[in-house]
Amino acid sequence: MTTDGYYSSKKTDDICEKVCGQQGSRAALTLSRLRCILRGLDLKTYILFFVLVPVCVFGVYLHGQKITYFLRPLWEKAPKGFQAIPHYYHENVSMESQCRLHGWGIRESPRRVYDAVLFSNEVDIATIRWNELYPYITQFVILESNSTFTGLPKPLLFANNRDKFKFIEPRLTYGMIGGRFKKGENPFVEEAYQRVALDQLLRIAGIDDDDLLIMSDVDEIPSAHTINLLRWCDDIPPILHLGLKNYLYSYEFFVDNKSWRASVHRYQTGKTRYAHYRQSDVLLADAGWHCSFCFRHISEFTFKMKAYSHNDRVRFSHYLNPKRIQEVICKGADLFDMLPEEYTFKDIIGKLGPIPHSYSAVHLPAYLLNNAEKYKYLLPGNCRRESG
Ligand SMILES: *[C@@H]1O[C@H](CO)[C@@H](O)[C@H](O)[C@H]1NC(C)=O
Ligand SMILES: *[C@@H]1O[C@H](CO)[C@@H](O)[C@H](O)[C@H]1NC(C)=O
Ligand SMILES: *[C@@H]1O[C@H](CO)[C@@H](O)[C@H](O)[C@H]1NC(C)=O
Repeated sequence: MTTDGYYSSKKTDDICEKVCGQQGSRAALTLSRLRCILRGLDLKTYILFFVLVPVCVFGVYLHGQKITYFLRPLWEKAPKGFQAIPHYYHENVSMESQCRLHGWGIRESPRRVYDAVLFSNEVDIATIRWNELYPYITQFVILESNSTFTGLPKPLLFANNRDKFKFIEPRLTYGMIGGRFKKGENPFVEEAYQRVALDQLLRIAGIDDDDLLIMSDVDEIPSAHTINLLRWCDDIPPILHLGLKNYLYSYEFFVDNKSWRASVHRYQTGKTRYAHYRQSDVLLADAGWHCSFCFRHISEFTFKMKAYSHNDRVRFSHYLNPKRIQEVICKGADLFDMLPEEYTFKDIIGKLGPIPHSYSAVHLPAYLLNNAEKYKYLLPGNCRRESG
């Protein structure tokens, strides 16, 4: 019965033994074990293996970004929160009372205010912004480049539309800067270069110590009453971030209250540098509106998707298909098919899926409502865009 020492270890092998009835040396045994495992699997398992594995690999390729975003709370902590300053406003409350409610005194005369922006292609939103702020701005300082941050040539849209902006002409300091067109460079380098040029333009515009300087993108619009408050009150923080309401595509899609990059500075010669990142810990709540990707034409969406600093998000060329873009806008879905960028699972899950439609057009920039027909696409119920 027992022909070799192998018999003693038979117990562990006998399942395979029964199936395949193999015996032999150790190497041969391993091989035969493998063979018998494979033989033991039926056709269904093979199909499952050769279909499922490629499908999984392809799935990870398509959605890898989603997986990493979803797991972000595991590897990244939220930045330190802001110390929010409650914001008090009503049109019938005197400026003195408003300042006092914020713990500030009132000045004899208001500060001068400079509104400085890097202009890209947001002609409509800029019109709404400059009309909202016009009464309180000393100088509009506008810089534009013939290069996007990603190094693509771009038309000088402010210069080409200057007749539309006649109303700011008496208070305008405009500058144009030639792009560097460095291929394959990090877009944040060109952006920083343009912001340094904006610092120089501000000095040309005559900014001085303790003047207010608004640092924000064109689509981050502080409300007029916020700027009026800050120019009249004494003792406001030297650098104050503005908490803006985030919207996407139009004021129909309210995302959250968490836009914070815009800031207001009491200018200090030699110290204040134009920037668009976090520069202090204080934030004034409910200070305006931030409307991202709020364009009239589908072509502006494709331009912006290619031009902006996160252009690596255009992972597939069909993302730029006009028909798809229109559908995404009307649904309130994500142009780049990404998950919400949040730091906790609760926030990510709370924001999954499209943004709900909002039916409120209360407390929006006055110029927008006074020209509702012209800017219809920014208001609730009008998600269809013009082609071209
Ligand atoms: C604001 O004050 C004016 C004049 O005192 C008054 O007529 C008006 O009703 C007030 N508005 C609100 C919203 O309270
Ligand atoms: C950009 O502007 C600069 C300065 O005016 C000019 O020299 C350059 O040719 C322009 N480039 C393009 C691509 O328009
Ligand atoms: C945002 O702030 C408004 C008041 O300005 C409030 O009514 C709303 O509930 C807030 N929404 C979120 C999502 O925090």
